[in-house]
Amino acid sequence: MSFSFILVLVAQVACLFLPVAAAPGAVPAPTLDPLFSGSLTVDLVTLIDGPIGGRVSAKITDGVLFNPNGTLAATVVPGTGIGNGILADDGIFLASIMFTVQFAADNTYAYVAVQGVGKQFVQDLGYVHIETDSEVWDNLNSHFIVGNVTFPKVGPSIMNAYIVADA
Ligand SMILES: *[C@@H]1O[C@H](CO)[C@@H](O)[C@H](O)[C@H]1NC(C)=O
Ligand SMILES: *[C@@H]1O[C@H](CO)[C@@H](O)[C@H](O)[C@H]1NC(C)=O
Repeated sequence: MSFSFILVLVAQVACLFLPVAAAPGAVPAPTLDPLFSGSLTVDLVTLIDGPIGGRVSAKITDGVLFNPNGTLAATVVPGTGIGNGILADDGIFLASIMFTVQFAADNTYAYVAVQGVGKQFVQDLGYVHIETDSEVWDNLNSHFIVGNVTFPKVGPSIMNAYIVADA
């Protein structure tokens, strides 16, 4: 075997592996780290029976979020929260809530908006959008956060949030 033949062979073998490395399935899934857990008290004002299902008209009267180590992270500022999701006739719930929180660490505020999809009274997974000027929490502005919010028929809703870890 000549040296140049071996080189061509090596290049061809390398090419065989290249498309594999670039295949979409080869990219690892994002890793989620626990961020907050807590509860929201939702006061349903009315359900509007509209063209795409029951449109929720609700107030979020209060809420608390804890850090994974159990210390208080933030409280919902009373009077700032609304829920206006859809209770679809087929049992799908399209969650849509927004509220302001005040962080315990530095008393600064954040706007929080959650858009999700799930099953009525069971669970909803959604995207949690956060905007804050807190120097402690401003990394949340640029991270993808997943929320798992469950609105039971009775009692406060349960909220867990997870942050996509840096690669
Ligand atoms: C708990 O976690 C928060 C957020 O990461 C951190 O700021 C705080 O120092 C921790 N407190 C204790 C007692 O570990
Ligand atoms: C979401 O939270 C509920 C409890 O509120 C839990 O039963 C469910 O397993 C969680 N869903 C996911 C996908 O982690």
